[in-house]
Amino acid sequence: MTKLCEGRVALVTGAGRGIGRQYALMLAAHGARVVVNDLGGNIDGSGTDSSPAQQVVSEIRSTGGEAVVDGHDVSSWSGSKAMIDTAINEFGQLDVLVNNAGILRDRMLVNMQEAEWDAVINVHLKGTFAPTHHAAAYWRDRSEQTGAPLNVCVINTSSVSGIYGNIGMDGADLD
Ligand SMILES: NC(=O)c1ccc[n+]([C@@H]2O[C@H](COP(=O)([O-])OP(=O)(O)OC[C@H]3O[C@@H](n4cnc5c(N)ncnc54)[C@H](O)[C@@H]3O)[C@@H](O)[C@H]2O)c1
Repeated sequence: MTKLCEGRVALVTGAGRGIGRQYALMLAAHGARVVVNDLGGNIDGSGTDSSPAQQVVSEIRSTGGEAVVDGHDVSSWSGSKAMIDTAINEFGQLDVLVNNAGILRDRMLVNMQEAEWDAVINVHLKGTFAPTHHAAAYWRDRSEQTGAPLNVCVINTSSVSGIYGNIGMDGADLD
């Protein structure tokens, strides 16, 4: 029986851990070939480590799926282009982009520091816009070349804390 995502290529950002990891595993279980992007930093955004993404790739391959690691930073314009190119070079196309990578800075309006604000805006806003920009540019070219409508999608991760507000996110570090 054909799987739901058979023939599809998906890029999941921040897929080395947490929710992104589950997206990647589930997409692969449904037959998608997956680019597992993750910078592998600490929860405060510092450092890099390719091993979480590598573990997800190994897990997918161990069950017969296809996946590759990408270690670029989603907030980098050129890095975002490179991760889209990874999908195209490794699997011939990109069909699904899941913008999931994120960092935590639990602060309120009164105690948020400039560097913390910049870090969150960089990863969450630019880190959603940049991969989407490069994916959309690639899809426009593909559509113009083939002349056929595309069946592609972008999935953005959000949070009730972002939509409705929440004091200091989880209540930590409110001084
Ligand atoms: N966990 C929750 O309860 C919850 C609730 C609402 C929204 N979210 C959002 O869901 C997303 C995933 O959350 P999670 O709890 O799975 O987080 P997580 O910390 O477990 O995983 C996030 C992953 O993103 C990666 N990452 C961080 N910055 C990156 C960058 N610049 N480039 C590439 N990768 C980067 C990290 O290395 C990490 O592996 C986040 O955007 C988060 O804000 C989470």
